[in-house]
Amino acid sequence: MGSFSFFLSFLCVFFVTSYAQLTENFYDQTCPRLPNIVRREVKRAIETDIRAGAKLIRFHFHDCFVQGCDGSVLLEDPPGFETELNGLGNLGIQGIEIIDAIKAAVEIECPGVVSCADILAQASKDSVDVQGGPSWRVLYGRRDSRTANKTGADNLPSPFENLDPLVKKFADVGLNETDLVALSGAHTFGRSRCVFFSGRLSNFSGSGQPDPTLDPTYRQELLSACTSQDTRVNFDPTTPDKFDKNYFTNLRANKGLLQSDQVLHSTQGAKTVEIVRLMALKQETFFRQFRLSMIKMGNIKPLTGSQGEIRRNCRRVNDLGSETGHDVM
Ligand code: HEM
Ligand SMILES: *[C@@H]1O[C@H](CO)[C@@H](O)[C@H](O)[C@H]1NC(C)=O
Ligand SMILES: *[C@@H]1O[C@H](CO)[C@@H](O)[C@H](O)[C@H]1NC(C)=O
Ligand SMILES: *[C@@H]1O[C@H](CO)[C@@H](O)[C@H](O)[C@H]1NC(C)=O
Repeated sequence: MGSFSFFLSFLCVFFVTSYAQLTENFYDQTCPRLPNIVRREVKRAIETDIRAGAKLIRFHFHDCFVQGCDGSVLLEDPPGFETELNGLGNLGIQGIEIIDAIKAAVEIECPGVVSCADILAQASKDSVDVQGGPSWRVLYGRRDSRTANKTGADNLPSPFENLDPLVKKFADVGLNETDLVALSGAHTFGRSRCVFFSGRLSNFSGSGQPDPTLDPTYRQELLSACTSQDTRVNFDPTTPDKFDKNYFTNLRANKGLLQSDQVLHSTQGAKTVEIVRLMALKQETFFRQFRLSMIKMGNIKPLTGSQGEIRRNCRRVNDLGSETGHDVM
């Protein structure tokens, strides 16, 4: 009997190490007010910066796509590694100070207990829901990495990519076309710098013409808006700060901002075309799938159990050789 249950737990450890022992009640005993604290801080951040929510969910996406949802994206000085923040996909990313503020508030109440990776997951849900989107039950129990991988951040999905490479990069982390379309719907809020789409406005891919899948009127608006490559433009020209299905109605009107957005609808014969249509049709269809896909994304290769650590300061690994580092925030 004893050896049988030992055998069972061995099986569990063996099969589940890289996937989802995350649970809803992970912090029920150790930080019961975590959801309230994070939500309060997210709301506070959005009151002073309408883009705060967009910045937070983008961080969670970039975290999960590089070596799993382990807070690796936040490390500024991983010893012996280059930071992901210097990777191509993260150049100019904003909002790390918002994460610091949330972490600081959590540390006051539950010091050394809640991972930065879990804070990103929870803050993403609150960001979406506060801006009018769906809500869902966040799973917890991720731990923070002591390493980062710049190459991974160089290879994040790119705004200049066509559908096949985008599908491939999502498939590589266990997400399918439905997830790709639903999660891209996060581009219903936030901004993009012109540098990421200005190539579509004229002489697209050396053709001498603008991107043919870009609506001409929208193109004119973008040309006038882009006074420099660093100007930030709304992803959603209709309801810029609201989390709704308009991203998909925009795509169907050839008003997707990035090439990587518009290809979901404009790639002939692709599975994604029908998925875009369904999400544009009914907001609840988008919301229902977005919830599922966010949970799926949040489950990518978490560190759990005794792997990794609970960082004190999201930007640094804890002091080497000391569990109770003094180099706190
Ligand atoms: C499909 C592949 C994707 C590509 C190629 C892509 C690319 C980009 C780019 C180029 C920007 C503008 C960055 C800047 O100007 O600094 C951006 C912003 C953003 N992305 Fe994505 N993205 C993708 C998927 C996602 C996903 C899955 C999410 C979340 C679930 C997401 C959420 C956001 C948000 C909210 C912003 C606005 C951030 C802000 O206002 O600061 N993106 N993305
Ligand atoms: C970093 O990520 C790349 C893929 O993006 C992978 O090929 C490489 O093995 C990773 N490096 C480490 C040290 O894990
Ligand atoms: C994607 O995966 C989900 C399950 O996670 C499944 O319900 C859906 O049918 C899949 N979509 C495609 C296009 O394969
Ligand atoms: C468009 O780009 C191509 C290749 O970069 C170049 O040869 C061509 O001169 C450009 N055409 C215009 C109109 O700028």
